[in-house]
Amino acid sequence: MKVQRPPEESIGAEVLDFDVKLVTPAEAIAIKELVYEHKLVIFKNQSVTEKQYLEFAQKIGTPHIYPQDNYHHPDYPEIFVSSNILKDGKKFGVRGTGRYWHTDCAFLDEPLPFTILYPQILPKSNRETYYLNMERVYEKLPAHLKIYVEGKYIKHDAKWRYKVQECDIDKAIIDIIHDFEKRFPAVQHPAIITHPVTQKKSLYMSSGFTAGIIGLDYETNQKILQELFSFMERDEFIHKHKWNDGDLILWENRTLNHKASIPVLSEESLNYRICVYDGLPFYVSSPSSVDSQAITGAFASA
Ligand SMILES: [Fe+2]
Repeated sequence: MKVQRPPEESIGAEVLDFDVKLVTPAEAIAIKELVYEHKLVIFKNQSVTEKQYLEFAQKIGTPHIYPQDNYHHPDYPEIFVSSNILKDGKKFGVRGTGRYWHTDCAFLDEPLPFTILYPQILPKSNRETYYLNMERVYEKLPAHLKIYVEGKYIKHDAKWRYKVQECDIDKAIIDIIHDFEKRFPAVQHPAIITHPVTQKKSLYMSSGFTAGIIGLDYETNQKILQELFSFMERDEFIHKHKWNDGDLILWENRTLNHKASIPVLSEESLNYRICVYDGLPFYVSSPSSVDSQAITGAFASA
């Protein structure tokens, strides 16, 4: 496996001359280690079917089935479909997903550590995904903001991102929201999370899903959240990936926020995503709470 590592303080390793269809168990472990180290791994020049894509994900970890079936690929529910095209004259997946800063499924009790993205049709222009390095954000976070997040919990809520479906026709908006809240109640996670392998800390929040810092009143929350979002969304923390045909990307949601670019309306796009659990806790509460033996065991079983 030929790896091109990023310059110091940058993210994203490129894997060249490698076919994800042929990944061995030892290579799967090496790939995960690359992700933990570089946050983002790009496999160049891939050509895989849906089945082979899923098989690759299964070698990396346990694929997750997104809890809303309107996103599912009809034959492979593990594949989340983001598209603006029709398939056999029918709606295929959901259009316009993820155009705001977020981490995948932060609104679940067990957020998804890894995302694997494999575009099928790239738009001609605006074919980018943006990443925020949240480990770096934590390192640089000024003291006057750190005091609001250190030792605190954050509320993550997905309801404002819900996309209305055909089954919602004739329902009042308030009922749609209440139904969604019943299915996906807001969850809490620590504002600062410790990585189970590197033991490094990241700020775990996003302007897409973060609804508040627990313990702060409404006015303070509004003010501090805006300050935190403006700080973390600065250019210095943003990494841009410009997609080429054949790119397949694996990234870590523990340390990165991401958002999609907005394609030109007339241009077709079709994207496949699989999120996987890597067999490790999403975060550990303190550096000593996961020992190295437990991590090795989890690598072997994921
Ligand atoms: Fe996403």
